[in-house]
Amino acid sequence: GAVGKDGYRHYMEKELHEHPLVIGQTLQRMIDPATRKVVLPDMPCDLATIPRGVITACGSAYFAGMVGRYWLEEIARLPIDIDVASELRYRNPPLTPGSLGMLISQSGETADTLAALRALKGIGLPVLSVLNAEHSTMARESDVVLGTVAGPEISVASTKAFTAQLTVMACLTIAIARARGTIDAAREDELVTALLDLPGRAEEVFSRQADIRKMAEVVAEARDVLYLGRGSVYPVAMEGALKLKEISYIHAEAYAAGEMKHGPISLIDRTVPIVATIPSGALFEKTLSNLQEAKARGGRLLAFTDEAGAGRLSAIAEQTIALPKVHPFVTPIIQTIGVQILAYETALLKGTDVDQPRNLAKSVTVE
Ligand code: G6P
Repeated sequence: GAVGKDGYRHYMEKELHEHPLVIGQTLQRMIDPATRKVVLPDMPCDLATIPRGVITACGSAYFAGMVGRYWLEEIARLPIDIDVASELRYRNPPLTPGSLGMLISQSGETADTLAALRALKGIGLPVLSVLNAEHSTMARESDVVLGTVAGPEISVASTKAFTAQLTVMACLTIAIARARGTIDAAREDELVTALLDLPGRAEEVFSRQADIRKMAEVVAEARDVLYLGRGSVYPVAMEGALKLKEISYIHAEAYAAGEMKHGPISLIDRTVPIVATIPSGALFEKTLSNLQEAKARGGRLLAFTDEAGAGRLSAIAEQTIALPKVHPFVTPIIQTIGVQILAYETALLKGTDVDQPRNLAKSVTVE
């Protein structure tokens, strides 16, 4: 494949800069511009009556699934079971007949996810796959495919494919919510508008890159980093921690901010920086008080918030990044771009092989 770096230092940097484009292309695929409605292909089941959903994936794609669970349960009122594919495939869980199986994979070839697909089909569930590689083995074996229109992703660490996965899960949530009658036309239009606003807002994130680089200078000095978030940005904290581990080789752990007091709070001191994803919205005050607890114990706070939360954060955090303010529904997508840039900038400072980190493979086709 003749995919170049277009003047960027790494494929990862180029692919980070493709977030706005890829989100826009994926929305074009899923939303009819005339009616502003999410349009799905023919479904193997009736979305109005499915009793549950089961989501499975590996790596970053699993975190996209976790955000999907928050959305599908809260907005579409669809109960969701979710597990990493390497566990689901051997767990033999008592899944509810008629549940919709949902897989997420960039490559469509990951061995564990493929095995989970076959296990779900084997017990008779319809399987919907969210795939970037639309001519992959998973594409062939799924009942229906929703494409992430991210183009080829070369860097081993996933970036643009992940936000495209989130974009598809957001659209799927709207469609399922409409089918189940849990949103009215006005709410549906509000959510679609929030999505259509994203490409422009995502572009604005890059005007914060120099500030994120300053944050990376703190992170690059650390041996351990604690990521915190709550609600739909908790999985974003997990994605941020995974990305940091993968490409900078710094140990990072993500925790639900409210759970910190039950363990990781004992780790907090000046040497363990805390990276928080804390957009304005329903859980802002709760998360802020968790961060205040961390600060009171000597923690160094590095915060990703938005323009509406920045004033409150800068009073307690050592560094605050005010990402563009978006509708609360789509904050995980904007926050993701911030934490991915932080991992990239940290890896640059560490001098690691950003696009080909040691021991990792782009597509893991063995168990
Ligand atoms: C590998 C990659 C990860 C990726 C995971 C799942 O471990 O290093 O970046 O998230 O596989 O890959 P998939 O192609 O199924 O999304």
